[in-house]
Amino acid sequence: MKNNYTADSNRYGTMRYNRCGKSGLLFPAISLGLWHNFGHADNFNTARDIIQSAFNQGVTHFDLANNYGPPAGSAEEVFGVILKKDFLAYRDEMIITTKAGYDMWDGPYGEWGSRKYLIASVNQSLKRMGLEYVDIFYSHRFDPKTPLEETMMALDHIVKSGKALYAGISNYTPDQTQRALDILRQLGTPCLIHQSRYSMFDRTVENGLLDMLEDNGVGIVAFSPLAQGMLTDRYLHGIPSDSRASKAHFLRPENITPELLIKINALNELASYRGQSLAQMATAWLLKDHRVTSVIVGVSSVKQLNDNIYTLKNTFFSAEEIEKIEAVLNSGN
Ligand SMILES: NC(=O)c1ccc[n+]([C@@H]2O[C@H](COP(=O)([O-])OP(=O)(O)OC[C@H]3O[C@@H](n4cnc5c(N)ncnc54)[C@H](OP(=O)(O)O)[C@@H]3O)[C@@H](O)[C@H]2O)c1
Repeated sequence: MKNNYTADSNRYGTMRYNRCGKSGLLFPAISLGLWHNFGHADNFNTARDIIQSAFNQGVTHFDLANNYGPPAGSAEEVFGVILKKDFLAYRDEMIITTKAGYDMWDGPYGEWGSRKYLIASVNQSLKRMGLEYVDIFYSHRFDPKTPLEETMMALDHIVKSGKALYAGISNYTPDQTQRALDILRQLGTPCLIHQSRYSMFDRTVENGLLDMLEDNGVGIVAFSPLAQGMLTDRYLHGIPSDSRASKAHFLRPENITPELLIKINALNELASYRGQSLAQMATAWLLKDHRVTSVIVGVSSVKQLNDNIYTLKNTFFSAEEIEKIEAVLNSGN
């Protein structure tokens, strides 16, 4: 195990930084997500290497949630250990985010959007990571049974009490989002960011959310940009034994259908014409839109991380390339 990490002095040389909506905060174009591969069930040294390599290349944003693991909570614990070992000197150079909304602990107060749950959860997250504050605290999902005012007032309280610097929302529809933004603005804690699933294979946010966020000066971070690995070369020749699909943890072998594989192969071919891996083309395709503040990738190795960061060498698409990609995505629908 490496000791006393010193960050690369050239770490800000190549990363691109994008302003988050109309806020003062800049995000790296590529962020790192700790949903998978950072729990107690995973290899600690690999996790530590990935985080060090990311930071060495200007990735300043690390995305967590209370329930990341497995087991739930363990990604925050592992990250807390790595922070303590390696990053204490760099805390002010990092954006660390967490969320609450999904099932976290037993009983009626361990999920959704009540003030009771959100405030207890942020306190637990801070303890697990050994932090005084997170940079962004998110409501992880809209709660249809709790008044939205209560959820937003809890976010406002968390920010005003110094436990988070900014508030964000995730997985809210355009209508829910507009209501949340209006409440937060009235409370004096404007929403910084919306975290949404967005990839070539899931374009739901193009149906109004992207425009609405831009109109409101709110940024957007895209999660699962590689469709959990399907928009990479991972599954071109079957299901590798160390892949997410083989663990059947959210992504299942049956999700990778023969029809989808035809598209993945065709996209892979287009990517190679561009001199990119499919993962790079899928990431670049998201970053070509100025409304996308950052793309949060998940990785299981430093090699994948490096491959994804290399995307920034080419995020330009010709009209012809876009047309060909659209044709593949729309084929067989
Ligand atoms: N707000 C929410 O509700 C929500 C939901 C989901 C995710 N997120 C956030 O978004 C982050 C990313 O989501 P995700 O993990 O689903 O993202 P993803 O980037 O779509 O998929 C990550 C997986 O793709 C494979 N991969 C990544 N780079 C690769 C490369 N260059 N070549 C080949 N394979 C590659 C790896 O699979 P293998 O593991 O098989 O190697 C990796 O685990 C999460 O960590 C989390 O922070 C948020």
